[in-house]
Amino acid sequence: MDKLCITGGQPLKGTITISGAKNAALPLMCAAILAPGTLTLTRVPDLRDVASLRGVLGALGVTTDYDPASKKMVLDAATISSTVAPYELVRKMRASVLVLGPLAARMGEARVSLPGGCAIGARPVDLHLEGLKQLGAEIDIDEGYIVAKAPQGLKGNDVHFAKVSVGATENLLMAATLAKGTTVLHNAAREPEIIDLGNCLIAMGAKISGLGTARIVIEGVTELKAAHHSVIGDRIEAGTFAIAAAMTDGDVLLDGANIDHLTALVHPLHLAGVDMIAENGSAIRVRRARKTLRGVDVMTEPYPGFPTDMQAQLMALLTVAEGAGMVSETVFENRFMHVPELIRMGANITVHGHSALVRGVKRLKGAHVMATDLRASVSLVLAGLVAEGETQVHRIYHLERGYEDIVGKLGGVGAHLRRTTDDDA
Ligand code: EPZ
Repeated sequence: MDKLCITGGQPLKGTITISGAKNAALPLMCAAILAPGTLTLTRVPDLRDVASLRGVLGALGVTTDYDPASKKMVLDAATISSTVAPYELVRKMRASVLVLGPLAARMGEARVSLPGGCAIGARPVDLHLEGLKQLGAEIDIDEGYIVAKAPQGLKGNDVHFAKVSVGATENLLMAATLAKGTTVLHNAAREPEIIDLGNCLIAMGAKISGLGTARIVIEGVTELKAAHHSVIGDRIEAGTFAIAAAMTDGDVLLDGANIDHLTALVHPLHLAGVDMIAENGSAIRVRRARKTLRGVDVMTEPYPGFPTDMQAQLMALLTVAEGAGMVSETVFENRFMHVPELIRMGANITVHGHSALVRGVKRLKGAHVMATDLRASVSLVLAGLVAEGETQVHRIYHLERGYEDIVGKLGGVGAHLRRTTDDDA
């Protein structure tokens, strides 16, 4: 298995180019299913998750021509040759469940493996299924597969989400574009990635209003057409590198980052003593506003609250800040896997249920640590950037699911890190 060896102590200085957002690119790729013809996406990040979803789309008959150099992807869904998304492909990347809504809408049927849970929680899809039932689909579970049937097509309706769900909002938003009549999504998720998906669907001919609010209205149309769309910048990648700059007392320009998508991070980082300043409309400059970092309290919430995908990274910062900070995780039930690994590096963290109290220490010490989920993995990399000595982060395939060229990007601003395999010295 591959690992990252990081030698801490270098302040990061320079410019990091932010890639297209993983959590926008994945639903955008699924949206291709809705329209015969080609959907051209630019700024698609070169990630394991994108490769996995290409495999799922290929099984459905959607060709995806991707150039990792230009980040351009051309998806051709002229014919959908199968409506089955098999277990062996879906289990590798649970966001594959986002093919369900588009298949039900365009083909009137779908057989999609239940995605199953992952390290951070059970990850149920009940809200996705309830919503599709509201649109008239017949839903059964058969041998671990979701079987959706809508032979007369989907019908517009009011859909009330019992809790805010990014994926359920995306599945229903896509399905409703081809439903007969009007659909209103109540208690919809408001993430920038959902606005980006909606903007692409509108470019394809969909009639949508209310994107970015908790109430999205979709007027169904009979057909969608091919379009071009550029993926928004990855706010979680940008937030991750902002924290790296702050922890190492560096000075980094995040090129291609939109500060309006990170307001919930700007405030706690300001309290911690870090400045995030917007530059020329599409970049963010990050450096410390004071000599030392201070502990802060955060609680994760659906957008526009503090993102759960930034929780592990902020905790890494708190481990070396002056004073203490409380981190409360309200979105997922098991998202503290980074805690025992950070403690191996000398962090002082006490977990009580969904909250972790972090007391800052003078210096972390490099150690062998194990990556688990994507964001827990990157918090260990951040800790390694400031730890004394060498940190070895094992099982870095988790990292590569969601961070494009992290070695090149961090190395390019002065970090000392290299990728090796476990059997190397
Ligand atoms: C998306 O996952 C993101 N993934 C996650 O990012 C992100 O953490 C999450 O939204 C929250 O922002 C992608 O966009 C590909 P949810 P999703 O449905 O859609 C519960 C990363 O690191 N729930 O908003 O699966 C669920 O268990 C990943 O990039 C139900 O109960 O998240 C969770 O507690 C990790 N029933 C909460 O809602 C459902 O039917 C929020 O989940 C669906 C969800």
